[in-house]
Amino acid sequence: MRFSKSGYGHVISLLAAVLIVIGAWWVEPIVKAPSQEIAVQYSQPALPPSLRVPLLRHEKPSLTQTKDYKSTAEAVKRQRQAELLPPKQTPTPPPPTDCSQQQCIALTFDDGPSPHTERLLDYLNQHKAKATFFVLGLYVDRHPNAVQRMAKEGHQIGNHTWHHRDLTGMPLSEVVTEIGSTNQAILQISGVVPHVMRPPYGATNAQIAATSTMPQILWSIDPVDWKDRDAQIITDRIVSAAQRGAIVLAHDVYPSTVDAMPVVIERLKAQGYIFATIDELLNKGQPPAAGEYRKQQL
Ligand code: NI
Repeated sequence: MRFSKSGYGHVISLLAAVLIVIGAWWVEPIVKAPSQEIAVQYSQPALPPSLRVPLLRHEKPSLTQTKDYKSTAEAVKRQRQAELLPPKQTPTPPPPTDCSQQQCIALTFDDGPSPHTERLLDYLNQHKAKATFFVLGLYVDRHPNAVQRMAKEGHQIGNHTWHHRDLTGMPLSEVVTEIGSTNQAILQISGVVPHVMRPPYGATNAQIAATSTMPQILWSIDPVDWKDRDAQIITDRIVSAAQRGAIVLAHDVYPSTVDAMPVVIERLKAQGYIFATIDELLNKGQPPAAGEYRKQQL
């Protein structure tokens, strides 16, 4: 077979083209391999196995299809996306309540938790109002979600004993049990230990004060909501008696009391009141000292 001069030229060009194609096929993995190494260094730690793309069994993975390659490539992509995103804005926490400067009042709710407590928590949340709940150990297990929400949503939990009996009429060993078992139940459900208590009926004496180191928190405004189950009456009594530093006694076991709260809060807010926990009202957010706290001491 004879080739003309230009015929040789065509053959050489063809061979060159074939070599380029083979070369490109051969070189491709070599070119990609370093980027994989970079990716491995760049993306430590690698994605968890749950995010990796599974291969079908019969597939023979090429370098770019391996799990490691895909997971590291994905990690690099995510890392770069994260770098391009503006930093996350953390919401500014509200300034701490300072009752020495602000017009504070404390709402307190006794004898729960009850089936109505979570509705009250919703209202308090909507109005960004804090309260203190003096709960009964007996009911803590029955409404664990309510107790957990109290702690999580910034309210204070106090101890109102286990059975709601008059402590002044029982042996001191039983007083210790009433208070201690309630603290234990609250701790187990919510993870917090109460450090204030309210004796049932406000009935206390020097012996009880000596037995429990927990400050005994009484009240200065009593709307008698257990007797008059009427939201309008309860609202008017609380709002008309309101004064700076007051502790309001209410019960979250009565629907009428819970019904009253949105209007109570709105009307008091309109008068400039801030809703403080007992710790905030009495001691700048710290536990108050042991003793009795009633109207005359505020
Ligand atoms: Ni009570």
